[in-house]
Amino acid sequence: MSESFDKNVIYLDNAATSWPKPEAVYRAVDYAMRYSGNASRSGHRLALEADRLLYQTRKMLASFFNVGDPAQVVFTKNCTEALNVALKGVVKEGDHVVTTSMEHNSVLRPLSKLQKSGVEVTVVQANVEGYVAPEQIAEAIRYNTKLIAVIHASNVVGTIMPIADIGKVAHDHGALFLVDAAQTAGTLPVDMEECFIDLLCVPGHKGLMGPSGTGVLMVGKGVEVESLIEGGTGSLSESVEQPSFMPDRLESGTLNVPGIAGLKAGLEFITEVGQSTIRQHEQKLTKLLLDGLSELDNVLVYGPKDPNRTVGVVSAVVRGMDPAQVSALLDREYGIATRPGLHCAPLAHKSIGSFETGTVRFSVGYFNTEEEIEKAVQAMKHIAKQLD
Ligand code: ALA
Repeated sequence: MSESFDKNVIYLDNAATSWPKPEAVYRAVDYAMRYSGNASRSGHRLALEADRLLYQTRKMLASFFNVGDPAQVVFTKNCTEALNVALKGVVKEGDHVVTTSMEHNSVLRPLSKLQKSGVEVTVVQANVEGYVAPEQIAEAIRYNTKLIAVIHASNVVGTIMPIADIGKVAHDHGALFLVDAAQTAGTLPVDMEECFIDLLCVPGHKGLMGPSGTGVLMVGKGVEVESLIEGGTGSLSESVEQPSFMPDRLESGTLNVPGIAGLKAGLEFITEVGQSTIRQHEQKLTKLLLDGLSELDNVLVYGPKDPNRTVGVVSAVVRGMDPAQVSALLDREYGIATRPGLHCAPLAHKSIGSFETGTVRFSVGYFNTEEEIEKAVQAMKHIAKQLD
């Protein structure tokens, strides 16, 4: 990685990955790389250090998301992998899945593949604000509905879905409930028990502030998930069969111990600062962005204009300009990092009316300031003014 690039950046791409990380995260990764071995493989001190770290992190995650048993916490390499393991591990030929048009391709693509092997899928259409009502989900349920898979908050417009109510619908109909909390974990409380969640998928590197290469699948009590890959677990080495117990059943191969050490430090940071403090700060910045961008001539803002209904994700376009061009200008001329295009969520953009060119997405994080948001709004004003 180049050491010479201009690090003076206003980073508004936290929905892709949060940046910067808390200092403790960098330190934890460095420490784990120096002083840990391979977990569950040996009894020497470096291996035990890794074992302790994994167990403590599982415990923290179990308590953070109210999983119950830390053994039901599975480390993955990202949220996409967690979603793939969850979807492909529970859905079989002849089953029906209900999902929404706001899902990321990390749900839509595995479902598309499953459809080819005889799984039925209903995609419930979101409204123009990216919202799906629990009643719409209930209407889509059939006799063979095995799973309902819903994104907690849109990665395109930030719209928060009513997961507790959708979870109740799933529970009442005997269907499993999967939540993709890619944009909410670390910012909004997610309680697996209260929301009737059977499968919760989160990235470690976004709101939880850990490094890239970390994700987590949390599996509710009594939910059977078949393995997607098999291999060494350090347990039952005498057998060529994959262990059936959790988390080993779903965790094959050497785990990303330095990444998980960073994730643990991220969780500790969030606990220390307080999730509600983080949420309040991000809401304040989101309101500034929504209000500021909405007032600009030639700028169109998508999604709800109320930060109580969204996470810190705001999508906009400058009329008549390609979002990719606007994002490139923001980066080159103003040092502002955003993500343009379709954000791996084509049906979400169709729902809000921004398909095919997409939008410029601004996504805030805990380390952004009001001053940075004001600069971003001013930059958009200058860019849009060039059209007059
Ligand atoms: N899913 C991430 C995003 O929306 C990468 O940018």
